[in-house]
Amino acid sequence: MRILVTGGAGFIGSNLVFSLLSGGHQVGIIDDLSTGSMANLHPAAWFRGLDITDPGLQDAVADFRPEVVVHLAAQSSITVSQRDPERDRLVNIEGTRAVARAAAVAGARRVLSASSAAVYGTPVSLPVGEADPKVPENPYGHSKLAAEQALADELRPVGVDFASLRFANVYGPRQDPHGEGGVVAIFCGRMAAGEAPVVFGEGTQTRDFIFVGDIVLALIEAADTDVTLALPGDDGSAYNISTGDETSVEMLIQHLRSPAGYFGPVEHAPAREGDVARSVLDPTKAQEVFGWHSRVSLEAGLARTAAWFAQNR
Ligand SMILES: NC(=O)c1ccc[n+]([C@@H]2O[C@H](COP(=O)([O-])OP(=O)(O)OC[C@H]3O[C@@H](n4cnc5c(N)ncnc54)[C@H](O)[C@@H]3O)[C@@H](O)[C@H]2O)c1
Repeated sequence: MRILVTGGAGFIGSNLVFSLLSGGHQVGIIDDLSTGSMANLHPAAWFRGLDITDPGLQDAVADFRPEVVVHLAAQSSITVSQRDPERDRLVNIEGTRAVARAAAVAGARRVLSASSAAVYGTPVSLPVGEADPKVPENPYGHSKLAAEQALADELRPVGVDFASLRFANVYGPRQDPHGEGGVVAIFCGRMAAGEAPVVFGEGTQTRDFIFVGDIVLALIEAADTDVTLALPGDDGSAYNISTGDETSVEMLIQHLRSPAGYFGPVEHAPAREGDVARSVLDPTKAQEVFGWHSRVSLEAGLARTAAWFAQNR
């Protein structure tokens, strides 16, 4: 396959690109390196350093002629989204629209776009299904929900297949330990340096933690499938990509201690206002429609992640 990955210099994107190249695919990357890095760029991939909102996007995508576009480039910091919601609108909504348009003009057959558990806000029941209420609680979640609509508005009328993959909490090698999103990366970074992990509140809050290798497999299997992913109806093209397992932050630390080699104290900070208390997403639809399910256990994923952080700090 010829696959174009926007955001291919970032955490999830670089893991996807490395895996696609080792599978013999031809890979292009468009990334403005705003949060991604040159070190994440695979030398065998075609690369354009470009903002997805730049008017040159259409020509760049046409130059690469992708069969499938995986759209991961986004402003994904909740703090930044609260400070500057206009940036989320521009990059996440209008950027997704621009990528979808450019993909259609270039003759791509499918676009897969990264969405997020943030579109649901506080779940009304668990596990959360795709059709459950969507009440985002920050501008990032709002922009991801609007981006799903922009994708459908651009691609349904022109007959290009598409899907919005709603990722749960992703962790793994190459995640930035200095950001505020990836709690596993932050804990691994601190534990590898012999520093106490800092837990907000009691650590009883739960999330659905999914290893990046499972996200990569979901993207490859969704890119490759012969079935149509853009099913009719509201949420027809939305897929939860998650484990379906609920894990507390407290449990996460217990699982990390041994692989990270940290047996010291845990620090507690006041609970963060607006933090969702419990979250777990139901991944059944992805399994039923295109046969994907998560394969990596939390123990195995955390061991691989802690080992990477120990080697790369
Ligand atoms: N990491 C998670 O837990 C998680 C969870 C849910 C959804 N997502 C989504 O998955 C996608 C990838 O996330 P990630 O964790 O790899 O983030 P990341 O910040 O590591 O990667 C994003 C990449 O996009 C690039 N980028 C940002 N704005 C751009 C722009 N305007 N033009 C071109 N490139 C741009 C960045 O330089 C970076 O390389 C994002 O859409 C994010 O919202 C991530």
